[in-house]
Amino acid sequence: MSSLLVDNIGELVTNVVGGGEAGPLGIRRNSALLVEDGQVAWIGPARDAPAADRRIDAEGAAVLPGFVDSHAHLVFAGDRAAEFAARMAGQPYTGGGIRTTVGATRAASDDELRATVRRLRAEAMRQGTTTIEIKSGYGLTVADEARSLRIAAEFTEETTFLGAHVVPAEYAHRPDDYVGMVCGPMLAAAAPYARWIDVFCERGAFDVDHARAILACGQAVGLGVRVHANQLGPGPGVQLGVELGAASVDHCTHLTDADIDALVSTGTEGAGTATVATLLPGAEFSTRSPYPDARRLLDAGVAVALATDCNPGSSYTSSMPFCIALAVREMRMTPAEAVWAATAGGAMALRRDDVGRLRPGARADLMILDAPSHLHLAYRPGVPLIRQVLYNGVPQCR
Ligand code: NIG
Ligand code: FE
Repeated sequence: MSSLLVDNIGELVTNVVGGGEAGPLGIRRNSALLVEDGQVAWIGPARDAPAADRRIDAEGAAVLPGFVDSHAHLVFAGDRAAEFAARMAGQPYTGGGIRTTVGATRAASDDELRATVRRLRAEAMRQGTTTIEIKSGYGLTVADEARSLRIAAEFTEETTFLGAHVVPAEYAHRPDDYVGMVCGPMLAAAAPYARWIDVFCERGAFDVDHARAILACGQAVGLGVRVHANQLGPGPGVQLGVELGAASVDHCTHLTDADIDALVSTGTEGAGTATVATLLPGAEFSTRSPYPDARRLLDAGVAVALATDCNPGSSYTSSMPFCIALAVREMRMTPAEAVWAATAGGAMALRRDDVGRLRPGARADLMILDAPSHLHLAYRPGVPLIRQVLYNGVPQCR
């Protein structure tokens, strides 16, 4: 077993409360971290660092847990740059473009889809994302949803069946039949490759009864629940997610007091039952929509995660640092809250306790910044600040 010491860390973000300075990030100064067998084996003052087979000198820079991007749609073909340009000229976003991507995805070969996922996965890794969730949802036939998830599973354990993204054109006048198909043969074909099930519960996509039926069928075969909720307007998605014990409700752009109360009632971190509010500011940026009210959620005590929503329509970014910068500048999250939401928050939204934090026994997923502090992720927007990424303890090539 070979060991690797990351030494001379100026600011180590652990997300372990009580392990360092006050605050959610559990910051330690002048530290070192030992990796053995893909895991964090030891953390302590640099002056006490043990000997190791190899050493990386962080040169006083900041080290953070790898980002946990808990919401991404990477299995697709084509792009919708023209739709983006039209939006910037004043067209609203309705989700109608999803069907354009469905057509392109169905027409693509397995290798074309795989190449896109590989490219975006590598792009995310270079920007510090060590754990990523990948959804299906642009196939919308039994065969195309199953192959989307089969390909996604080649790249991540966090795979999500989103056969209920929209009702495809061939079922436009018989949504009940489509829901029956999703719950029947499509779920059966998808479930072997999926950990989660998700529904786009929104006007123009799936109503609350259809969404509940689909999520319950997924739960019955052992999938965990997540929901695309309250993105384009107020609606029942958040409370449906809470009712079903969802790990996360995502978007949360239009919330009532009752939605917030429902989220608060699920409990806080540690209980393992909390429904996380996952905010996706890349979508509001790229659709020129008002941002979600993160302060209202945080001040009420709701656990908040940040994710990219990377997809060719509403948010074609794989950059968690970009989302952090938006969260701080546009949503009034503190830099510490945003960094926590992009790491430990994402892990919570995926019900994982082996990632998102740096402590002995955790996976050695981390990044060394080209900066002395996590503050620089928001302070220096658009700058490639990720100097080096360790994934499972292995330094990744740039
Ligand atoms: O999370 N809202 C639904 N699904 C995606 C957008 C998909 C698309 O526009 O292609 C989202 O924003
Ligand atoms: Fe999404």
